[in-house]
Amino acid sequence: MTQGGAARRTVLGAAVLAAGTGITGLAAGTASAATDDGGHGEGGYRDLPVPTVIGHRGSSGYRPEHTLGSYQLALDLGADVIEQDLVPTKDGHLVCRHENEIGGTTDVGDHPEFAARRTTKTVDGVSVTGWFTEDFTLAELKTLRAKERIPAVRQRNTLYDGRWAVPTFEEVLRWANRESRQRDKRVWLHVETKHPTYFRGLGLGLEEPLAKLLRRYGRDGRDAAVFLQSFEPSSLQRLSRLVSAPRVALLGAANTRPWDFEVAKDPRTVADLVKPEGLRWIAGFAQGIGPTLDLIVPRTADGRLGEPTTLVKDAHARGLVLHPYTARNENSFLPAEFRKGTDPAAYGDAFGAFKRYFELGVDGIFTDNPDTGLLAAEAFRPGRGVNR
Ligand code: G3P
Ligand code: CA
Repeated sequence: MTQGGAARRTVLGAAVLAAGTGITGLAAGTASAATDDGGHGEGGYRDLPVPTVIGHRGSSGYRPEHTLGSYQLALDLGADVIEQDLVPTKDGHLVCRHENEIGGTTDVGDHPEFAARRTTKTVDGVSVTGWFTEDFTLAELKTLRAKERIPAVRQRNTLYDGRWAVPTFEEVLRWANRESRQRDKRVWLHVETKHPTYFRGLGLGLEEPLAKLLRRYGRDGRDAAVFLQSFEPSSLQRLSRLVSAPRVALLGAANTRPWDFEVAKDPRTVADLVKPEGLRWIAGFAQGIGPTLDLIVPRTADGRLGEPTTLVKDAHARGLVLHPYTARNENSFLPAEFRKGTDPAAYGDAFGAFKRYFELGVDGIFTDNPDTGLLAAEAFRPGRGVNR
C-alpha cells in the first residue's frame, strides 16, 4: 500500500456538513476476515506528514466523540491519524470511550433497566458517580447509543445523538483495515490505554487484549500504522514487551504524577519527566511524547500564550517526536489572543493558534477539528514533509 505521507491530501471542508448521510455499514461484524493486514506496509511513523494531524476522538468537533461516525468523518476530512481511547467491559472487551463512566457520552441514564447500576467509585484517586463500562457486558453496552459530551458548546453535534453505538476496538480495526484496502492507503490509529492500573486491579488488564487485537489485525510491528499511548508509563512498558508498535508517553500538567507512579510511590512528577533526564528515561520505552500544549507554551494569567519552554528541543534531542494535545476551534478552548467575540461556543482564530503551535516545532497535534488542522498544516508547510 502507498504511504499516507506520499499522497496528496484533499481537505473536504464541505464534508463537515455533508458526510453524515454517507456513514453506513459500520456495525459490528461487517468485516469478513478474522485476521487482516491493514497495518503493515511501506514506511513507519517517521514517514507521516509533518505536522501530523491527529483526529482527537475522531472528529469530535463535529460528531459525538468515539463513534464510528466520528472516525469516518475524520478520515474523510483527511486526518493523518485517528485516535481511540480504550476501556474494558465486564466481559473483557475493549471499547472506545474517553472514560469508563459513560453517563456523559451515552444515553445510559435513559435506560431504566440500568438505573440500579448507577454508583460511586474511586478511579485513580478521584470519586466519580455514574455508570461504568466495567459493570456492563458488551451485549448490554451495545443497547446504548452515543451522545454529544458538551451540547452547550457543540449544539450542532446533538443532531447525531443516538445515531451510533459504542464501538469496540475490534470494530474500529476492521473498519480501518477495510478503509485502508479501499483507499489503497493505510489508515493510522493512535490508541490510548485509559486507567490501566485501575483496570488491572479489577482483573481487566488492557494491554494483553490490546496486543492480541493488534496482532490479529496486522498492527503489531515497528512500522505498523498505529501509535500506542498512555498517561501511565508502566502501561507502555508492558506493551513494549507484547508488541513493537511505536509508543507515545502522554504528559499531563507539570504538577501532576502518573497514577502508576502514585501507586508505586515513585515521587517523580511530570515536571521531572520533561527535564532532560526524564526524557532520556522515556526514550528507553517510547518513541514520542504527548504533552499538554501548556508544557510547550504555558499560558499567562490572562490566558494568552506565554514564553515557550525548551521541551520541543529537549525531546527532539532524545529522538522523541511530540504529539501535543488538544487544539480546538471554539473560543472556550483557544488562548485569549485567538478568541473572537465573547461567545464561548463561537469559533475564534483557530488557524492562528495552529500556526503558532506549528512554529514551535511540534511533529503533530491532536485536534477535534482535523480539517482546520490540515488546512493550517498545508499553509504552514505546503506539501508537508516527513519527520526524519
Ligand atoms: O491522548 C491524547 C489526548 O487525547 C489526551 O487527552 O484526556 O483527551 O485523552 P485526553
Ligand atoms: Ca486520548
